[in-house]
Amino acid sequence: MSDLKGKNVVVAGGTSGIGFGIAKLAAEAGANVWALGRTQKYIDQAKQELGEKVTFLSADIHDADALKKIFEQVGTIDHLVGNATGANRTIAPFMEQTAEQFQEAFGKFWGYTNLVRTGVPFMTKEGSVTLVSGTPARKCRPGMSSISCVGNAVEGLCRAIAPEIAPIRINTVAPGTIDTTMHSWMGQAKDERLHAMTADQAIKRPGTPEEVAGAVIYLMTADYVTGTNIDVDGGQLLP
Ligand SMILES: NC(=O)c1ccc[n+]([C@@H]2O[C@H](COP(=O)([O-])OP(=O)(O)OC[C@H]3O[C@@H](n4cnc5c(N)ncnc54)[C@H](OP(=O)(O)O)[C@@H]3O)[C@@H](O)[C@H]2O)c1
Repeated sequence: MSDLKGKNVVVAGGTSGIGFGIAKLAAEAGANVWALGRTQKYIDQAKQELGEKVTFLSADIHDADALKKIFEQVGTIDHLVGNATGANRTIAPFMEQTAEQFQEAFGKFWGYTNLVRTGVPFMTKEGSVTLVSGTPARKCRPGMSSISCVGNAVEGLCRAIAPEIAPIRINTVAPGTIDTTMHSWMGQAKDERLHAMTADQAIKRPGTPEEVAGAVIYLMTADYVTGTNIDVDGGQLLP
């Protein structure tokens, strides 16, 4: 396995939650890290916590020109991570969603395709791409059909293009229920609801961003692993 010392790592969607965890672990492993997001408030908070070790920049994963400018600054990318949620998702039964709501969730997939298409020309051939998918790709709860389809699309993209972009490697990591800002809409009930959502798993608690980030770091350094997925979900996929 290679190490991350002196490597250039870009995390799209790296200003909070899982992406922030990835940026932090990569920086601690000695990498030069660029972490991207859209919201200035998140960027400022992230800079306060980790600004000396990570370069936080504003960019939308859908904006190829903005990404290209940043990649030109980076120079050569060793490891590229797609983690940005990238779009609003509607949690509702399929038959109760409009076509527009269902399609909007695919903003995550289109963001990832844009990231890979724009980023790969800047990458070293020993490098890796990791895309963050999600457990719903293989275990769909009621109301989560669009999220499930997007996860399947992300994991399918990984398997489809792994032979095409080789020797650059590409893999996915599928988190289960992870305690991040993504669930902030639950307000004060967040802890209780995340524990209820994970009560029937083998490991009966939500995961942490660092627990998912660890799998992403592994994939960056695992020179013989491509076209596959790691589930980090406390056993949510078990029957
Ligand atoms: N948390 C979970 O339980 C869970 C479960 C399964 C899968 N996931 C997946 O894990 C990934 C990370 O989620 P998280 O829970 O860490 O969420 P989070 O805390 O909300 O972090 C999402 C990050 O992506 C950035 N982002 C969103 N849209 C973007 C865009 N269009 N362009 C650039 N950056 C963008 C956000 O910043 P801005 O909004 O400021 O741009 C933020 O930095 C997502 O792909 C999510 O679908 C999470």
